[in-house]
Amino acid sequence: MKMKSNFREKRKFPRLDSSLLLYYQVYNRADLPKDISLTSDVSEGGLCFSCSENFELGTILELEIRLPTRNTSLKALGKVVWSRQTGPSKYDLGISFVKIGEEEKKEIFSYLSLFNRQKKDSFLKNFHSKSWERIKISLTIAFLITIYFIEIKAFPGTAHLISQFIVTVILVGLGLIWWQERESHQQLEKTSEKLNEAEKELRESYFNTIKTLALALESRDPYTKGHSSRVTEYALAVAEQLRLSEDEKAVIKNAGILHDIGKISINDSILQKPAKLTEEEYKIVRNHPDIGVSIIKPLSFLKKERKIILEHHERADGKGYHGKPFDEVPLSSRILTIVDSFDAMTSDRPYRKAFSVPEALNELIRNKGTQFDPKIVDIFVKFIRSSGRVYSAEKKELS
Ligand SMILES: [Fe+2]
Repeated sequence: MKMKSNFREKRKFPRLDSSLLLYYQVYNRADLPKDISLTSDVSEGGLCFSCSENFELGTILELEIRLPTRNTSLKALGKVVWSRQTGPSKYDLGISFVKIGEEEKKEIFSYLSLFNRQKKDSFLKNFHSKSWERIKISLTIAFLITIYFIEIKAFPGTAHLISQFIVTVILVGLGLIWWQERESHQQLEKTSEKLNEAEKELRESYFNTIKTLALALESRDPYTKGHSSRVTEYALAVAEQLRLSEDEKAVIKNAGILHDIGKISINDSILQKPAKLTEEEYKIVRNHPDIGVSIIKPLSFLKKERKIILEHHERADGKGYHGKPFDEVPLSSRILTIVDSFDAMTSDRPYRKAFSVPEALNELIRNKGTQFDPKIVDIFVKFIRSSGRVYSAEKKELS
């Protein structure tokens, strides 16, 4: 019985455009004005609107509604009488008015019924004009072809009229079906394009949020400021030398920017400690790739980047953070390990001055095969020596 009642109310309530709902919140009974006696009865009429949160049935909401037909906003109390989830964090709520002035109620309903009627009229007008247009075109085509058949005497004897009639009907039907299919297909393509664009925008927006976090993290510490951007530039230079594809480069770019995002959870007193870390502190630092992965895990489009970030501190001798066999570590992680170390060495640290470029390169060469991938070290050393492209601490952000 309850379901039946909810269904009836859903149909009855006109929809309020969310842009007209200035605000809503759970009504605090403690603030109930003396002239309002709130009862459990629901006054006649209500409306529905979309919002991002769900409320239990019976919750009293305080609403402020703006109508284009008047200058001031309307205030009302409504009770949630039905709710329905329509998407992730999206709900339709049916509100029945508990307390609203008679005049205000009239205004809301006259506006909403006018608005709904206009929408319905415009939809019907559009539908009729489109359908009629299609029928006219199809009939014209069928008519012309029928005339042509008569002219060339395609149908002899008594079968003549019946055949023409059948041909006309079939042609009109086919014409309509073809027209409909074509329009549906075009509509589908447009919708698909819009969806792709929206998805791309959403991805970029998510990624930019995380990127901002990563850059904000670095900017707290003058010693690591710009580190991720420089690491990304070096990693892309190696990718270029290895002739990796554009897709692979895009993944390296993302992973380079985000590789140390997990450090956001580490206390500054450890990250900026001007002395050797204790065993306990080192354990915390070693956890940053795992934390980084858990931060970006909800972003499903960064799946490849997750593995690269997780394993950017593995070593060729298998004694890295996770002790992974080196042949199972992605190429991009091995690139990051080298360029990450190079930038760390050529930057000042609270406890030491920066290495010179030749010193840092020699250090990479010295650790070939134990810490680093020998082939990539050779490529990187050759690139730095020939191009001289070494970024200083001034290089803070990628374009
Ligand atoms: Fe790292």
